[in-house]
Amino acid sequence: ALPGPLHGKTVTVTAGGTREPLDPVRFLGNRSSGKQGAALARAALDAGARVRFIAAHMDVPAPDGVELTRVETALELREAVHAAAVDSDVLIMAAAVADFRPDTQSNTKIKKRDDGADPVITLVRNPDILAEAVQQRSKAAAGTARPALIVGFAAETGDGSADVLDYGRQKLKRKGCDLLVLNRVGTSLVFGQDSTEVTLLSPQDSESVPPPSYTGTKTDVAQRIIGRIEQELEAA
Ligand code: C5P
Repeated sequence: ALPGPLHGKTVTVTAGGTREPLDPVRFLGNRSSGKQGAALARAALDAGARVRFIAAHMDVPAPDGVELTRVETALELREAVHAAAVDSDVLIMAAAVADFRPDTQSNTKIKKRDDGADPVITLVRNPDILAEAVQQRSKAAAGTARPALIVGFAAETGDGSADVLDYGRQKLKRKGCDLLVLNRVGTSLVFGQDSTEVTLLSPQDSESVPPPSYTGTKTDVAQRIIGRIEQELEAA
């Protein structure tokens, strides 16, 4: 068989949702199933890439054939991404990373208080791992900067599609990534579902041409995204 279009390339995919512990039994989590990240990893493997898969909590198994690292929290995911990024051609940040974590983690289960007072949880910001990967790359010498392509995801709950696009463009700029996969979410949309609807935004987009959108199963959409990544790597 012919070598696939990503033969010789290393693709790192993050997937699933981070869990931020409150105490030994409780956490703050999110509805990410890991299905889109798993589908992206499979599509990259099918294209011949070596795939490093950094998995936070997932409802589905990690695909066979990946180099798997399991993480729980955003800070653990950050360490794993930093370690993988320098030797990746492509970084795909499909994981749903908690923006906040509890400022402290109790070593024992938080108990109901005798005085009836409600417990208070203070949240602190997690680092933006995607933005950090972009910053890290910009410090490298020209020509050696890796990953060559950094892909972010944006799950937006807005319903007016023009607003969602606008928001996506702002996020692309703010994070500085090379491609942003925008999808519309709600509790019954996208998260945990097998089908999805995405729009691909790039800093090179012209305002007058509508960006490409794809609807289909997460597998179909993953193949489209990997196809676009192949094009971007060829053009680079
Ligand atoms: O800002 P927002 O969470 O919508 O950005 C989503 C994108 O940023 C995703 O690609 C996600 O993996 C990444 N992200 C991150 N670190 C965070 C929050 C999100 O890398 N703390």
